[in-house]
Amino acid sequence: MKYLGWIVAAGFAGLSAYLAYAFIYQGRVAPGEDERTAIVVSADERRFILAEMRAFLEDVENIIQGVVRGDMAAVAKAAKNSGMATTHNVPGSLRGKLPLEFKRLGFDTHKRFDAIAEEAAAMADKNKILEMLGDTLSNCTACHASYSLKAD
Ligand code: HEC
Repeated sequence: MKYLGWIVAAGFAGLSAYLAYAFIYQGRVAPGEDERTAIVVSADERRFILAEMRAFLEDVENIIQGVVRGDMAAVAKAAKNSGMATTHNVPGSLRGKLPLEFKRLGFDTHKRFDAIAEEAAAMADKNKILEMLGDTLSNCTACHASYSLKAD
């Protein structure tokens, strides 16, 4: 009986560690239809993520067109549109469902767009902007290679 308290405490510690792993690290995932990991979200959350994705692609389009025209204000505006500020709109319900690596790649992508906006406003070096955009697109393809979405 002397050790019961410790056993219970260890049990809780183990449970907490498991829950932390499940909710923070792993997220809500299931085997996908292909080699990618499927993240299981609600139909609304899936629509939200896909709309954000289409906005990413439009901003990439506008950044490239802005660079070609030499319109750095348009480049900065498009890049800002995909920046960190947009993450405030992410539904709180998604936090526990998205794997840590997905969130890391997502945040890093938004930060890179902010950096492109800063470059466009400051030095406005076209080659540098295209190089930064190319690096940002590596995040898109890396995430797409790893994850798919499945509505529950
Ligand atoms: C953190 C992960 C992640 C990042 C980063 C990411 N995507 Fe996605 N994207 C996804 C997932 C997951 C899907 C859904 C794929 C599926 O279910 O097959 C998706 C889907 C899309 C779609 C399809 C949208 C639709 O309506 O079907 C487009 C377009 C897209 N992404 C563009 C981009 C672009 C451009 C970037 C980079 C600027 C990007 N994504 C970065 C995870 C990501």
